[in-house]
Amino acid sequence: MPAAMVVSGGAGAEGKTTVYVIISAIMAGFGGLMFGYDNGIAGGVTSMDDFLEKFFHDVYEKKMKAHENNYCKYDNQSLQLFTSSLYISALVFSFVASFLCNKFGRRFTMRLAAVFFLVGALLDGFAVNLPMLIIGRVLLGAGVGSANQSVPLFISEIAPANIRGALNILFQLCVTIGILVANLVSYFVSTVHPHGWRIAVGLAGVPAVILLLGSLVITETPTSLVEREKFEEGRTTLMKIRDTANVDTEFDQIVHACELARQVKDPYGKLMKRPSRPPLVISVFIQIFQQFTGINAIMFYAPVLFQTMGFKSDASLLSAVITGLVNVFSTLVSIYAVDRAGRRVLLLQGAVQMFISQSIIGILLLKDLKPTGSLGHNEAIIIVLLVCLFVMSFAWSWGPLGWLIPSETFPLETRTAGFACAVSSNMFCTFIIAQSFLSMLCGMQAGIFFFFAAWILVMGLFGFFLIPETKGVPVDDMINRVWKKHWYWKRYMQDEDPDEDRKQSKLEMAPSSSRS
Ligand code: BGC
Repeated sequence: MPAAMVVSGGAGAEGKTTVYVIISAIMAGFGGLMFGYDNGIAGGVTSMDDFLEKFFHDVYEKKMKAHENNYCKYDNQSLQLFTSSLYISALVFSFVASFLCNKFGRRFTMRLAAVFFLVGALLDGFAVNLPMLIIGRVLLGAGVGSANQSVPLFISEIAPANIRGALNILFQLCVTIGILVANLVSYFVSTVHPHGWRIAVGLAGVPAVILLLGSLVITETPTSLVEREKFEEGRTTLMKIRDTANVDTEFDQIVHACELARQVKDPYGKLMKRPSRPPLVISVFIQIFQQFTGINAIMFYAPVLFQTMGFKSDASLLSAVITGLVNVFSTLVSIYAVDRAGRRVLLLQGAVQMFISQSIIGILLLKDLKPTGSLGHNEAIIIVLLVCLFVMSFAWSWGPLGWLIPSETFPLETRTAGFACAVSSNMFCTFIIAQSFLSMLCGMQAGIFFFFAAWILVMGLFGFFLIPETKGVPVDDMINRVWKKHWYWKRYMQDEDPDEDRKQSKLEMAPSSSRS
């Protein structure tokens, strides 16, 4: 049975924001922060000479040769494996963690994530050879997979309904803060020779310790307890987190929702049926497109990319800090705009802005960055500005919405399974970009930016024709109010009555749940 994504704090609940809920939101922050930190730190350390000299001597030598092709300086499979190994491991672990979440609870899975993070960070911080470094990265990946599955699920189950939507994007905000912190750390430790990189990778252990300590003091979610048939404990916990004895309505909803979810014996089978096609196709493609905008070419390799363009090492790291800041502040715009302007406006505007920035970067590099030599000062600044414009539009559109839309379009019975498909598509495409970007940059040179621009064009058309507006639509009304009215998707709603086996499901569901 999937983790029943039962969201509490529905109608009738006394939806107070208690201290317990606030502490838990901070916990979610550390889960997201760790994910972001690990996303951002690889780019910083792979541009540091001490790190390259120790583990990737070929790359170091290539980089030192002045006549070496600009675009190919960093092309090395094992260097890319250092970055990408985390995502393949996260992909596997998001499925393992979804099983652990059901069987042993959200709290247990969070603790495990923190332990993985801690051991991974220690192995990397003290790495003496490449295998040790990669094993550390794989363990960090296990942490990312487990945390991405358990922390948001935990949060959505304990948060009162009125702040649940904002918490969803808050998780993405923490991811961007993690990336920014990683960029800042890289910038400051790059002058600490020869072990600055050890500090950078080892610091990932700090949020892990905080998450670990936090997971020792918090309690399990009522849903997880009821799901594992610990009814009395579930009720007491609910009273504790809501700080009231008046929890009957909410408790009954949780019990009822768990029963319903238990009845769906094969959620993945149900996900393959025609009526599930619209949310499934949209959720998987939104993740594929999100990655093929080229965002992580920037997030992982910004310092390396800026060095490719002829920036000195510290200027490259500083530019990465600037893009990191833009990423954080633009995500705030999304939190403000998503329920006012709606999803489609953000998605379409974001696609246009990203298309324009990637295309102009491509044109400028094609014109002026030859395999040898470097860009002029002014032009280099223009490129950094264009990269900022690109990151800005991603951060208020396809970045957060890539997670929000999959979490709000599936009905309860296929929500966890559908969401797991979305998460694993993301991890898989992230892996592909991390593993191949530097080789593609070497092979395609400036053309790589046109490659991303072409993907963004298709993505924009996909958004325009196939992604409907879901702003303000209650999750349980999605079928009638969205899919049955959509010019294309309505045909998938004809041959079966998807409402049939959901008739009883008149639960008060959150407008958005989580990225579990
Ligand atoms: C993406 C990550 C990316 C991050 C950048 C997320 O939505 O899934 O791959 O690194 O945004 O802020």
